[in-house]
Amino acid sequence: MSTQAHHLLQPLLLTPSLHLRNRIVMSSLTRNRCIDANKPTPKTATHYATRAKDGVGLIISEGIFIYLNGCDYEHTPVLYKEEHVAPWKMVTDAVHKEGGVIFAQLWHPGRSQNENMPMLRDANYPVLAPSAIPSESGSYHLLDGKPPHTRSPTAMTKTHIQEILKQYTTSASLAKAAGFDGIEVLAQGDFLVHNFLLSRSNNRSDEFGGSTKNRTRFPLTLLEALTSVFPASRIGIKISPSDNMGDTASPVSETTATYTRLIEECVAMNFGYICLSRRGVMEDGKSVERPEGMELDEGYDVLETFGGLVRGKKSGSETKLMVNYECGVEEAEGLLGEGKVDFVGFGRPFICNPVCVLSFFFIFFSSSLGGFVYVWERDCVFVSGREKDKGECGLIFFSPVRGEGTGFRIAC
Ligand SMILES: Cc1cc2nc3c(=O)[nH]c(=O)nc-3n(C[C@H](O)[C@H](O)[C@H](O)COP(=O)(O)O)c2cc1C
Repeated sequence: MSTQAHHLLQPLLLTPSLHLRNRIVMSSLTRNRCIDANKPTPKTATHYATRAKDGVGLIISEGIFIYLNGCDYEHTPVLYKEEHVAPWKMVTDAVHKEGGVIFAQLWHPGRSQNENMPMLRDANYPVLAPSAIPSESGSYHLLDGKPPHTRSPTAMTKTHIQEILKQYTTSASLAKAAGFDGIEVLAQGDFLVHNFLLSRSNNRSDEFGGSTKNRTRFPLTLLEALTSVFPASRIGIKISPSDNMGDTASPVSETTATYTRLIEECVAMNFGYICLSRRGVMEDGKSVERPEGMELDEGYDVLETFGGLVRGKKSGSETKLMVNYECGVEEAEGLLGEGKVDFVGFGRPFICNPVCVLSFFFIFFSSSLGGFVYVWERDCVFVSGREKDKGECGLIFFSPVRGEGTGFRIAC
């Protein structure tokens, strides 16, 4: 590949007061390491600080639950009480010390929970979702018999909606107090915000269901509510319009209309960025195929379908566009060079690799190494915090094409 451009290394003014040193973003990656009552530990801080030291432009934290949750992810972080602030401050301080910028990813899992998981069961708190439509997905390895997601989600009342908006703004306020530079709203993966967007999980008959406008109402109301804490320019939203992770595939025409409206409104409201995640990733590293009758057209490309709504920009909008999912360095350079995106998210390449950005430099400066950097080793991906030696190293591939190439092991 050319060694001339290096678009990934160009700085980006994300907001007038937030300068990113380059266009490489570490996507949100659940690490299952918050073994101290779902609070980050020094190990969490080291994980993020090494990536900041390596020089990544923006770090999105692992998904952080805004309140109690009934997910099957052990040792995942929460941020809803004052006592959660100091441990997160330890993380943001460590990142800032290395010149990094870090956003907190706020997560409500919606119908993708099980009421028998300890946090919900002990508090007798329901699995709240837009409608009482169970997800045909999930497998709870922490529960006997490995049941799926709840069979009976509780359809949210208007009071619940207000309660959850409050939980989000409280969590965002705590994130601010903890020193995060901004927030990303997780709106994919069959989780709450996603659940509102599509008729597959939302059959409400009030103003939060039915029409495209109504199904986008909760996400947009939420984003607006969050501007009481962070300016819109420091709020991003992560969406995956065509994905079928969980149980989310909806008719293509509905999906297109819904996401077109959502994106147009976000751009009009000048939110910081939209992350277009081309697909979701399951634990086995594979993407879920869409069901019969909902197949995407041959050559369907999320970026081609929706990117222009952001990059074409209504005049005056500063909203930026990020893309992720199996983006190699060469493709990222191409997309940036053609002006199709503003920055690029990389997930798996960062998991086990504390020098991922340095790896990119290898690619830039050594044509023999090719154009795609990828990290993939199952054992290193979902790691229980108690198995402290796992997840510390990975196999890093340098290759011109996905899935092939030479690899070597590197330690954190
Ligand atoms: C182990 C693992 C954990 C992840 N955790 C999250 C998460 O907490 N929040 C989120 O939005 N995406 C999460 N993702 C998805 C990534 O952010 C990213 O969208 C996905 O891996 C595709 O990018 P990639 O091909 O560069 O890995 C996770 C992915 C993996 C592999």
